[in-house]
Amino acid sequence: MSLLIRNGRIVTAVDDYHADIFVEDETVSLIGRDLDLEADRTIDAAGRLVIPGGVDPHTHMDMPFGGTTSADDFETGTRAAAFGGTTTIVDFAIQTKGHSTLEGLETWHEKAAGKAGIDYGFHMIVTDMEDDRLWEMRRLADEGVTSYKMFMAYPGVLYVDDGTLFRAMRKAGEDGTLVCMHAENGIVIDEIVKIALAEGKTAPKYHALTRPTRMEAEGVHRSIAIAEVAGVPVYIVHLSCADALEQVTLARDRGAQVFAETCPQYLFLDLSHYDHEDFEGAKYVMTPPLREKWNQEHLWRGLGFGDLQSISTDHCPFCFKDQKVLGVDDFSKIPNGGPGVENRMSLVYNGGVVGGRLSVNKFVELTSTAASKLFGMFPKKGTIAVGSDADIVVFNPDRRETISVNNPCTHHMNVDYNAYEGTEVQGVSEIVISRGRVVVEDNVWHGRAGGGNFLKRGLFGGPF
Ligand code: URP
Ligand code: ZN
Ligand code: ZN
Repeated sequence: MSLLIRNGRIVTAVDDYHADIFVEDETVSLIGRDLDLEADRTIDAAGRLVIPGGVDPHTHMDMPFGGTTSADDFETGTRAAAFGGTTTIVDFAIQTKGHSTLEGLETWHEKAAGKAGIDYGFHMIVTDMEDDRLWEMRRLADEGVTSYKMFMAYPGVLYVDDGTLFRAMRKAGEDGTLVCMHAENGIVIDEIVKIALAEGKTAPKYHALTRPTRMEAEGVHRSIAIAEVAGVPVYIVHLSCADALEQVTLARDRGAQVFAETCPQYLFLDLSHYDHEDFEGAKYVMTPPLREKWNQEHLWRGLGFGDLQSISTDHCPFCFKDQKVLGVDDFSKIPNGGPGVENRMSLVYNGGVVGGRLSVNKFVELTSTAASKLFGMFPKKGTIAVGSDADIVVFNPDRRETISVNNPCTHHMNVDYNAYEGTEVQGVSEIVISRGRVVVEDNVWHGRAGGGNFLKRGLFGGPF
């Protein structure tokens, strides 16, 4: 099977030029001007950007959490990702406390195999790591799971103490892998939550008001300090606010190997979304919570100046009617997480490139290339080059669309609301190609469940 993409403006993290791309089977085999070649299929990309498929390094499909399970499984979630121009996700396998991480990996392979419509990898969420289990970490790396996530939040659920953190970090550093941190002081936050509930403060907005930015900044500072002593690079996930960003910037300025992502929810939504008399605010209960709006300009600056390397979604959807209601009388019981895997590319293009905050190359870097490099997938993923996987998006930089669950529907995630309902974006993924196969075209799904492959990722290759 061959594919010729003609007349497009090819944009990668570093290039911007007009040329044709010839794809044979799953990979890009030739790039050049006016290629005189026959192909099984030709796509005319005149007037379009031709960009690498998006890489979202932070999703939670089919994740048991908060007394329920995230509403998208690997089939619906990866399909929605593809509609939005994302062709690779890195999701999170979870170690059940007291059990082997390898068992956890097996469970997540079963969840994804035969379902994922685009390529996927796994990080491993480590929930305990005694000395006699440390050997498993090298095995995970050999299996292509070359990054871990640990939580300073959610005591009694996913939380690990600083000793566990240090043990796992040391081993990760020895093995050449990367540690992802959910950096928030969950122990103090739980005390604040108890006080709020005792005062009868049960509405969704108290989720945000009980998680001060200082407690995120403290987690970022502490995790970086522990990582520096342990000798491992650390990647701060879902960084939400200026306080936390300051800690990343300070650490990077002194030469620490620290990387960080933020997410569209922290760039486009804010604390005012909790200002509802009814339970609507539960749609935005996620951790960290939405912050005061002024934080957003700091995050954009962090992205522009390179202290934040990547934009992920932390896609972890729960239906408003059936799942968020678990916390109708108590905000601390609302399942934490929100949808977004489908909307990331358009939102970032619109807010970043159209909004004059990012160059088009930076847009590609933040939504695709950087995550691919940080998480051991480059140059297979995250660029358009001879030999790379043909994960390509034909992106219309002029088309406008209003994000909506209905009227008309742009929404393919398996969740009954969209966090960005009614937002008009300029910049839409029109044709999405995953390893040489067109999986989305004319707003129709042409992929298949099971069409996505598990990605064995390489060791950490930075800094870069
Ligand atoms: O609220 C969130 N972020 N839910 C997903 C789990 C996590 O902490 O990433
Ligand atoms: Zn987290
Ligand atoms: Zn997450």
